[in-house]
Amino acid sequence: MFARMKDVIKRYNGKRLALDHLDLEIKKGEVVGLLGPNGAGKTTAINAIVGLLDVDSGLVEVFGEQQNGSNRRVRSRIGLVTQEVTVYDTLSAYENLLFFGKLYGLKGERLKRRIEEVAVLIGLKDRLNEIPKKYSGGMKRRLNIGCALLHEPELIIMDEPTVGIDPQSRNYILEFVKQLARDTETAIIYTSHYIEEVQAISDRVYIIDEGHIIAKGTVPELIRKVQGDQHVAIDVKQPEEEALQTLRALPDVKEARLDKQTFRINLHAGADLLDKLIATLSPYTITNVQNEHASLEDVFLMLTGKTLRDSEVS
Ligand SMILES: Nc1ncnc2c1ncn2[C@@H]1O[C@H](COP(=O)(O)OP(=O)(O)OP(=O)(O)O)[C@@H](O)[C@H]1O
Ligand SMILES: [Mg+2]
Repeated sequence: MFARMKDVIKRYNGKRLALDHLDLEIKKGEVVGLLGPNGAGKTTAINAIVGLLDVDSGLVEVFGEQQNGSNRRVRSRIGLVTQEVTVYDTLSAYENLLFFGKLYGLKGERLKRRIEEVAVLIGLKDRLNEIPKKYSGGMKRRLNIGCALLHEPELIIMDEPTVGIDPQSRNYILEFVKQLARDTETAIIYTSHYIEEVQAISDRVYIIDEGHIIAKGTVPELIRKVQGDQHVAIDVKQPEEEALQTLRALPDVKEARLDKQTFRINLHAGADLLDKLIATLSPYTITNVQNEHASLEDVFLMLTGKTLRDSEVS
């Protein structure tokens, strides 16, 4: 186990409960997504793992040792990409990498070699001499990520690395995370309030709300928690109510209703009967078929009664 939090409680200023009996685990080579709305406690949780923050009670263990914030050996095996981009605008990208590399204790040939390797990884090899002030937000973010990778950490923690950047850099970062985990067995904790991202890159997901983990598992496991998770919408010309009887009689159909020109059918998780539905409605002229699978958004909605998007502040 690379990192583990067990029953962790954290109150800021002794008042606001930021972590409420939080449990979390990450293993070697795993990409763990920590998904939750603004203020859920994501940054607090990862700051506790990195050792930037003392918790009130509970266990925080990193690489088998209790995290107390002062163990440099533990710290040197972690790479942190903070929520706010931290690079120096007046230093060139190369000088930024040099500075952060030294901070992590690298020097000489190894430092030079790592800067070259990392520059390729973050796609900035040809632009190292520029100052980040002239970079796009996405390039700045990639440089920022590079700074956290120089010392070859075994555990990388990224706090909302794709907020507010262009789609191209966003895809670059997502691909990069997947590849890094696959090729180097680096463990990665990735926080986000973008469901699609977490769904696309995580081996396992923790859904966090109000300082508490409300669900965890692989994406398919989480989606299976949502009852009747599949929705099919079939538009037809001149529909008739009586077709609903036949639809409802099909196995795996939980509910069928007619909404103007559209038959809306809820199916049990994993049901595969689109052909049968279409056959049942063949007396009508079908103009459109839409098959919507449940997403983590549905899981979040079911568990909290609110949507992730609604609970976002910005
Ligand atoms: N330094 C602080 N002092 C007081 N309260 C804080 C502090 N940092 C965070 N909090 C509070 O703790 C709770 C959790 O905040 P945290 O920053 O961990 O959430 P988050 O999930 O990272 O949110 P976001 O998506 O906005 O980054 C919030 O209610 C927040 O207001
Ligand atoms: Mg945060």
